Amino acid sequence: HFPKEGKVTWKAPSNIALVKYWGKLAHQIPANPSISFTLDACATTTSMAFVKKGESSDTFSFDFFFEGKPKEDFKPKIKTFLDRIDMYVPFLKEYHLVIETSNSFPHSSGIASSASGMAALSLCIMDIEKQMNPDMDEVFFNKKASFLARLGSGSACRSIEGDLIQWGTHKNIPESSNLYGIKYPFEVNPVFKNYHDTILLVHKGQKQVSSTVGHELMHGHPFAKNRFRQAHENLDALKSVLADGDVEEFIKIVESEALTLHAMMMTSMPYFILMKPDTLEIINKIWAYRMQTHIPICFTLDAGANVHVFYPESVKEKAIQFIQDELIEHCEKGHYICDRIGQGARKI
Ligand code: PMV
Repeated sequence: HFPKEGKVTWKAPSNIALVKYWGKLAHQIPANPSISFTLDACATTTSMAFVKKGESSDTFSFDFFFEGKPKEDFKPKIKTFLDRIDMYVPFLKEYHLVIETSNSFPHSSGIASSASGMAALSLCIMDIEKQMNPDMDEVFFNKKASFLARLGSGSACRSIEGDLIQWGTHKNIPESSNLYGIKYPFEVNPVFKNYHDTILLVHKGQKQVSSTVGHELMHGHPFAKNRFRQAHENLDALKSVLADGDVEEFIKIVESEALTLHAMMMTSMPYFILMKPDTLEIINKIWAYRMQTHIPICFTLDAGANVHVFYPESVKEKAIQFIQDELIEHCEKGHYICDRIGQGARKI
């Protein structure tokens, strides 16, 4: 049955990949499997009010508000997304939608909101579907939310649940799928259950390369085949690393993945350097600090200049001290975000 009207609200977190997704095939199918930490503080909250239209309709109609204000320039992206998921959620056109969204992190901080944004939007849509099918179980709900989110932004499919999410088929992960993210199905040592991620905002400007363009650059890339194979191998290697709590090996894989992502951009045609001088300063300081102190602080990068600094709970005080003393000076306006591994989206 179709409810006449209602409103649903979901808060979905961002995520940060350990093994990176970079390169895709048609229909948002990843060229290689990836795995990410679900974040906690960096999140998007989206509400969707829905009112049944007078008569049956075959076009989407919606209003969109970002941080309280109508935002026309976001609408085409949402329209594209709705068109793409239309066949999976045919009931949606029966409603006029009012979508309101806001981020916990500052606008244009260089933190991508597409993962958390598309995840929150997909969860709102699934919530409406659940009102029509009250018997829908949680497993299906999450799977389909992840499936829809993937069609908005690939990495968004890893922002539905926590705390460690894997996406993309891998021969040694039988549950894995190209269509949605799954909770990492193997043992994970407690040390990785409360990891910290302090995000250093080195450069807050617009991304130089959109991820759409970035993924495209992997087509015909001279190193693509090896890179995709390496991602499979790194996922294999992570299995025992995560189970054993082997922080040293974890660091090697994670930092190598970050630099490989950037190496792919530097070696594509056209080529890009997305790191800034301060990105390199931070990396060098992390390496020097780790050499001197043996405190297991490491970094990862997204497709931009900002640095995610990872460390386990056990070294939190020392890590924060180091970050404040030595790294914050490399952030734009001294801005950074203290985040940590999170448990996934929730209904508000
Ligand atoms: O989800 P997209 O299409 O914006 O791709 C994002 C890819 C990276 O963030 C660079 C890596 C990843 O796996 O999240």
